[in-house]
Formats: sequence, C-alpha cells, structure tokens
Amino acid sequence: MSFVKISWVVSLSFFLGVSAWGGDYRGALYTLSQTDDQAILISALHQNGTAEYVTAVQTGGKGSGARGPDALQSSDSLLVHDDSLFAVNPASDELSLFSINPAEPWDIQQVGNNSWSGGNYPTSIAVSPDGNKACVTNAGSDSNVRCFDITRNGLELISSFNFDLGLNQTNPPVGPPKTPSDLAFTSDGQILLVTVKGSGNATEGPAGRIELFDVSSDCISHKSTLYPATGPGGLPFSITPIANSGAYLVTDPAVGADLIRIERDGSVSYNASITIPGQAATCWSAYSSVTDQYFTIDLATAKITPLSINSTTLEPTLLPGVNITYISENPGSLIDGRIAHFSDQQDYLYSLVAGDQTVRIFSLSAGHQGGLSDSIQTYELGAAFNSTGGAVGTSIEGLAVFLRPSWY
Ligand SMILES: *[C@@H]1O[C@H](CO)[C@@H](O)[C@H](O)[C@H]1NC(C)=O
Ligand SMILES: *[C@@H]1O[C@H](CO)[C@@H](O)[C@H](O)[C@H]1NC(C)=O
Ligand SMILES: *[C@@H]1O[C@H](CO)[C@@H](O)[C@H](O)[C@H]1NC(C)=O
Ligand SMILES: *[C@@H]1O[C@H](CO)[C@@H](O)[C@H](O)[C@H]1NC(C)=O
Ligand SMILES: *[C@@H]1O[C@H](CO)[C@@H](O)[C@H](O)[C@H]1NC(C)=O
Ligand SMILES: *[C@@H]1O[C@H](CO)[C@@H](O)[C@H](O)[C@H]1NC(C)=O
Ligand SMILES: *[C@@H]1O[C@H](CO)[C@@H](O)[C@H](O)[C@H]1NC(C)=O
Ligand SMILES: *[C@@H]1O[C@H](CO)[C@@H](O)[C@H](O)[C@H]1NC(C)=O
Repeated sequence: MSFVKISWVVSLSFFLGVSAWGGDYRGALYTLSQTDDQAILISALHQNGTAEYVTAVQTGGKGSGARGPDALQSSDSLLVHDDSLFAVNPASDELSLFSINPAEPWDIQQVGNNSWSGGNYPTSIAVSPDGNKACVTNAGSDSNVRCFDITRNGLELISSFNFDLGLNQTNPPVGPPKTPSDLAFTSDGQILLVTVKGSGNATEGPAGRIELFDVSSDCISHKSTLYPATGPGGLPFSITPIANSGAYLVTDPAVGADLIRIERDGSVSYNASITIPGQAATCWSAYSSVTDQYFTIDLATAKITPLSINSTTLEPTLLPGVNITYISENPGSLIDGRIAHFSDQQDYLYSLVAGDQTVRIFSLSAGHQGGLSDSIQTYELGAAFNSTGGAVGTSIEGLAVFLRPSWY
C-alpha cells in the first residue's frame, strides 16, 4: 500500500509539476489542438465537474492546421474506449493510440508509432464494443472507410477491407458537403454505421446517406446504403444511439436531426426528421442517461438544444435551448460535445467552443428535467494552453473524457 502511494505521489508531481494536485480529481478531459504539430491538450476534472489545465502531449502527427472552426467537419475525431485514447492526425494521414493510466488519467502513453490511416485526411474513429477493432473514415482525395486490429503494439491495418466513399475530394477536403461525418458500431458490434454528407442539393447529388457494414471477428463487408428522412439534400452528421430503442439520433445541419431505427437485418423500421426551428448547422449530439435527454449542438447559431425522445414511439420533444455568448470577438462556433457520467445522480455536459477556445460545462442532475440551465464553468482552455507557450486557434476540434473507476 505504501509503495503504491509513494509511486503515485512521485508520478503525480512528475506530470503535474506541483504537489498541490491531490488525488481528489474525478477524471480527465482531452482535446485535439489541430495545430500543425498535433497535440492532445489534457485537463483534470474536479469532483464538481469543473476543469483545470494540466499539460499537452504531442502525437507526432499533423493536425488540420489553421483552417478555421470545424476544420474536420466530423464527429468523434478523438475517442476514449476503456483505457485507450484514439486520435486522428488529418494532415499527415495518421492515427495515434494512447493508453490512459486509469489512476491518473492525465498521464497518457503512446502505444506503438502512429499508423497510416489507410487513406487521406482521417476525420472520425469508432471502436468495436469488444475493443478489438477500430474503424476510421478518411475524407481527402482517397476518401474511404478502413479498419484496424487493435494490438498491444498499436493499430494494424486490415488490408483486405477498403470501402471507397467515391467523394471526389481534394487534400485537404472541401466541405461540409460530400465529406464523411461519423461512424459507430451497433451495441452488439455486428454492424458499423457511417454517415456521409451529400451535396446538400436535392437535384444535384450525391445524396446524404448512411452506409452499413457487416462486421464479424474476421471480416468486414459492405451491407447496404440507407437514406435518412431528410432525403437527397440531407447532410447526416453525428450518430447518437437512442436509449432502449435500436434507433439513432443523427444530427443533420440541413434541418436539425433525423431519427432512424435499424433492425438486425439492416432494414429500417422507422425514419423521420426533426426540424429544429431557427437552426443553421446542427452537427453534434450527446446523451445524458441521468436526465434522459439528448443535446444537439449548432455550430452557426452557437446554440445547444436539448430534446427528450420517447424510446417506444420515438416521439421527440424539443426543450428550451441555450445560446452560448462568446467571450472573445470571434463568433462562438460550437464544435464537439460529450457527456460525462459522474454518478447515477449527476452527469456533466462538456461543450467545446472553437471561436474562443473554451469548454462550457453544464451540470445535468437527476430530477432536473427542464433542459440546460445550470452552467458551472466557462473553462478557458485556449488561454491556459497559450500561457504555457502553446498557441491553439479556432481550428481546435475533438473532445473526449475519461472518468477514474470508483476503486481508485
Ligand atoms: C469546483 O471545485 C474546485 C476544486 O475544489 C473549486 O476550486 C471550484 O470553485 C468549484 N467550482 C464550483 C462551481 O463549485
Ligand atoms: C517506430 O518507428 C521507429 C522509427 O521508424 C522504429 O525504429 C520502431 O521500431 C517503430 N516501433 C514500432 C513499435 O513499430
Ligand atoms: C471531381 O472534382 C473535380 C474538381 O475537383 C471536377 O472537375 C470533376 O468534375 C469532379 N468529378 C466528378 C465525377 O464529380
Ligand atoms: C442545385 O443544383 C441544381 C442543378 O445543378 C442547380 O440548378 C441549383 O441552382 C442548385 N441549387 C442550389 C440551392 O444550389
Ligand atoms: C427515409 O425517408 C426518406 C424521405 O421520405 C426516403 O427518401 C428514404 O428512402 C427513407 N429511407 C429508408 C431507409 O427507408
Ligand atoms: C411513450 O409513449 C407511450 C405511447 O404514447 C406512452 O404510453 C408512454 O408513457 C411514453 N413514455 C414516456 C416516458 O413518456
Ligand atoms: C438565441 O439566438 C437566437 C438566434 O440567434 C435568438 O433568436 C434568440 O433570441 C437568442 N436567445 C437568447 C436567450 O439570447
Ligand atoms: C492562442 O494563440 C493563438 C495563436 O496565436 C491565437 O490564435 C488564439 O486566439 C489564442 N487563444 C487565446 C484564447 O488566447
């Protein structure tokens, strides 16, 4: 016991530089800098959900560079699965894998070298529920879906699987139309879903679509192409499972969101769109199990809109949204968001605001059903990183959270 305690204190002070950092932190928040030299910006999370800057760790790859807000036009560019952290390096066509020290999640170690993404300009990652496979979308001139075996030495490309998205893109890609948006596995791991934005023009094509793939332990193959209810002009974006329903909330900057229920055989048993009034670019989404609410994030209006969805009827109810007022002269530009499940009584929403490089943190507690009213912190991540000699601009994108297991 005393050995564990001593090594813990030594490594804490090594990573944090100050003994004042105690064990009383609940987890860590990671953000991708998207600077030319890509870095993971690491913050510690207090027990009350607020964040504090710790350090930056280089991935060795290249971020998008200064392309303005939403340089990736995607969701899930940074992903935590169990004790692993996966990151895209779009401008160098590489993926990075890190292992997270679960006792001190601000301590991450790279696993192996960066791997080639299997195409150009990787933008989103998904990991199978069993943690054995990672799949990625590439958005550049070689735009495709590729998958990897996750090994103790890093990510190994499955060379037999290469699904060309046929987007006729450039490096870097010019979107948002005609770029991949997100990917996700079904909870049984047997189907992979990939959202692809269409041209945004119903008469011009290609249509926005969801590509489905069959996944087994030794094979991945294309299954079918689905069209969500926004039809040919749609721009399907982030994928969030709807609890206890077999359905998905897919944001769509053309209207707000789509709801789609996909059966085991790949057929669609429900297909509807949700119009979010006044929306302009609803691109990201997250789910709170504590409040049983979904949160959609609009880049252009800088608004987060909560909704509840009846898991039987899939009837949505929109709740009052919150406008993010920005603290610099740059427009807000809301990018990624994640929910962290602190306890059965308490979730927090972390919303990355690229315009001023802040993370807005909201408390979502049990019994509070009104929507999103409880802002607990405007966390000035960019200013904290810049004060250590870094320089993160409005291209910052990608956000993930790790919570320490209760036994630490
Ligand atoms: C959260 O906890 C930290 C550390 O104890 C404290 O400094 C901060 O004031 C708290 N913030 C809120 C909103 O309670
Ligand atoms: C990483 O790359 C270096 C330099 O190319 C090489 O020497 C090393 O063997 C690689 N490590 C792994 C785990 O592939
Ligand atoms: C592909 O894109 C180029 C310009 O980037 C364009 O000239 C060409 O017509 C496009 N081809 C197709 C098949 O869309
Ligand atoms: C959609 O495409 C058609 C055919 O190319 C074109 O005539 C029309 O102007 C486009 N609409 C918009 C809104 O760009
Ligand atoms: C969903 O609805 C749209 C619009 O009605 C339709 O074009 C599309 O084919 C439907 N998709 C499926 C998979 O049924
Ligand atoms: C969902 O809708 C069904 C059918 O209208 C209704 O019986 C049920 O109470 C609703 N569930 C919730 C949580 O509102
Ligand atoms: C939020 O933004 C919308 C659209 O810009 C505006 O109509 C609305 O009044 C704003 N609400 C608040 C509370 O500022
Ligand atoms: C951090 O530095 C970058 C590069 O100089 C700048 O674009 C950005 O606005 C700065 N961010 C903050 C919050 O000061």
